Amino acid sequence: MARKKIALIGGGQIGQILALLAAQKQLGNVVMLDMPERENPTKGKMLDIAEAAWIGGYDAKMTGTSNYDDIAGADVVIVTAGLPRKPGMTRDDLLDINVKIIAEVAAQVKTKAPRAFCIIVTNPLDSMVYAFHKVTGFPAKQVCGQAGVLDTSRFCSFVAMELGVSVEDVSATVLGGHGPTMVPLPRLCTVGGVPLTELMKKEKIDAIAHRTREAGTEIVNLLGTGSAFFSPAYASIAMAEAYLFDKKRVLAAAAMLDGQYGIKGYFIGVPVIIGGKGIEKVIKLKLTADEQAALMKSLEAVKGAVADVDKRI
Ligand code: LAC
Repeated sequence: MARKKIALIGGGQIGQILALLAAQKQLGNVVMLDMPERENPTKGKMLDIAEAAWIGGYDAKMTGTSNYDDIAGADVVIVTAGLPRKPGMTRDDLLDINVKIIAEVAAQVKTKAPRAFCIIVTNPLDSMVYAFHKVTGFPAKQVCGQAGVLDTSRFCSFVAMELGVSVEDVSATVLGGHGPTMVPLPRLCTVGGVPLTELMKKEKIDAIAHRTREAGTEIVNLLGTGSAFFSPAYASIAMAEAYLFDKKRVLAAAAMLDGQYGIKGYFIGVPVIIGGKGIEKVIKLKLTADEQAALMKSLEAVKGAVADVDKRI
């Protein structure tokens, strides 16, 4: 059986971690593409990973390129191309520049890798997924955005740190747009099956929800240049694995809604099932009135960014 092909569009901080993780996890051959002026560094990074294969114990072919022909027939495309935030910027401040990049990438993916499961990571996340989907015209189940897995991982990590338990035993989900309006759902968080609300005071839970909403900014401020890259890469790989191995994982992702949660025609973070057919199902949670209202507020933020996308492409 031929090896699967993973195309990474963007060879920056997230792209290079994606390449290493995809190799280590033997997901398939990996092609990392960046702009022609970065072709040599892109080739260099992939050669470096290839030269570590003997020690790392992987066989994947690693290719660095600026030629879209090299992504032909990819099974999975993960898009990180675009600029990251600097301290003081919101994710929406990136829209003008990143929407142009995503539109170009989408046009290429549409012709070169029309069957790929596409995971968009570029910010502002929800509107960039919308832009990618608009340009490709791909079936909605073939396109999604990585944010919810990262936001959930952050929430679970903070809970585990606070309780001093293994993060493996924390389960949670985060809804909404990938920005300060995102909606962590502590009511549905469990630790070893026990509701978080029985284990932690409301003030602590609120502080963890707040830290989760601001977690990307916390990292941006600490790094001083660029945004988080280890955790977004891990989150995207989890989604790719769910697809490639038909795992039917229940993960939060930016998915196109068709009436679920009273939302239609927008990509926004919701729990979904990811399997071999892509986004196989949007899971409809029973929300409280407050949670639904918070999701609607987050939708307004996403709608604003999407309106800006529609003016530009
Ligand atoms: C974050 C950026 C990558 O949340 O959106 O860290």
